[in-house]
Amino acid sequence: MLADTSAVDAGELRIDGARLLRRLDELAEIGAIEGTQGCSRLALTDEDAAGRALLATWMRDLGLTVIVDAIGNTVGVLGSDSVQGAVLTGSHIDTVATGGRFDGNLGVLAGLEVLETVIDHGVRPGRPLAVGFFTNEEGARFAPDMLGSLVYAGGLQIERALQSVAIDGAVLGDELDRIGWRGAAPVPGIAPHAFVECHIEQGPVLEAEGITIGAVTGVQGISWTKLTLTGQSNHAGTTPMSHRRDAGYVAVRIAGFVRDVVDEIGPPQVGTVGRIELYPNLVNVVAARATLTVDVRNTDDAVLTDVEGRIAEFAAGAAAGEGVELATEVLARFVPVAFDPAVIDLVEHVAEQLGHTTMRLPAGAGHDAQMLARICPAGMVFVPSVDGISHNPAEHTDPADIEAGVNVLLHAMLRLAEVGRVEERAP
Ligand code: HGY
Ligand code: MN
Ligand code: MN
Repeated sequence: MLADTSAVDAGELRIDGARLLRRLDELAEIGAIEGTQGCSRLALTDEDAAGRALLATWMRDLGLTVIVDAIGNTVGVLGSDSVQGAVLTGSHIDTVATGGRFDGNLGVLAGLEVLETVIDHGVRPGRPLAVGFFTNEEGARFAPDMLGSLVYAGGLQIERALQSVAIDGAVLGDELDRIGWRGAAPVPGIAPHAFVECHIEQGPVLEAEGITIGAVTGVQGISWTKLTLTGQSNHAGTTPMSHRRDAGYVAVRIAGFVRDVVDEIGPPQVGTVGRIELYPNLVNVVAARATLTVDVRNTDDAVLTDVEGRIAEFAAGAAAGEGVELATEVLARFVPVAFDPAVIDLVEHVAEQLGHTTMRLPAGAGHDAQMLARICPAGMVFVPSVDGISHNPAEHTDPADIEAGVNVLLHAMLRLAEVGRVEERAP
């Protein structure tokens, strides 16, 4: 029986991979997408509520103190009734509408598995350990993404967050109340000692390099904008082209420009127009209105800012040229984030100690860890995505890679728990 973490070294403790995979399967049943291994569990829907209830039950079954805050972030703590001084892990259980079963879910269940492993082996870390899930990480239903962890870190006022309007018209605070997950714990939340998140890479890099563990260096800058174009509906047959104020035409020109400017700049710049909606969206009616979203990202904020400016300038010119009004709304804007060097080192060091190949890379997706990085030393453990696919029901990571990543998370957390401060790493 291991008395305390000083007796623990990389050769001794391992998670129970089968137990973790069983939980991933069970959680994936909630919002399962027929005929695939993916799930659809948009934030604050009934499916999200059911997932939350399952996680809270698992937390309570482990004897964790479960804390739910005013935006629905939920944390289970082992060895304390507070996150104060704890080593925290976690992620999200909301998914996009065509989600996989690993994005976010792996990070939450990895944390649960780490805590259960610690309990099973009677390990007494020097600090409390905790695992949480954050509200509305995806931002697919309510913008911005990472909303819950942003509120937890004090980056967004709770009042503003509660007023966020979904793409289906629902108001975040109403939905939080409807599913009964507005908790009593105040926000901003208590800063933990450190935060480490395990997540699938969601891109092709680790697989292409034949590497098992990613020691994530940070998160690239993220810019989401919603553009609303207002023209004039008219008859598709009778209206001369010179008389048109075609909002749909301007929308697709902007979408084309986004791709052209991103291709001109080249990697790591990326750009996506994921939503385009026309009104009235009928074959024989010139579109009166068009809305589209522009998602552009880059590790270099100066380049990202330049891209935003070029798109804004093009959109204004295209709208004016067609006599169409343009309104823009910033849905999300996060500058690139660098994770704590000591945590990056630790992830890399533990991965090597456990005999896994490892490399450093930035995160292409947004993550809750980037918000926790505002209030404590934070980092991430990546595991490979098969074919680099994500935000797609076919998303997959091999069980052996999952087990490797969660064992790295286990030992990284134990090391963070056993030393007084992150930088005081034991020799
Ligand atoms: O959009 C993102 O990067 C994340 O999936 N929220
Ligand atoms: Mn995610
Ligand atoms: Mn995602």
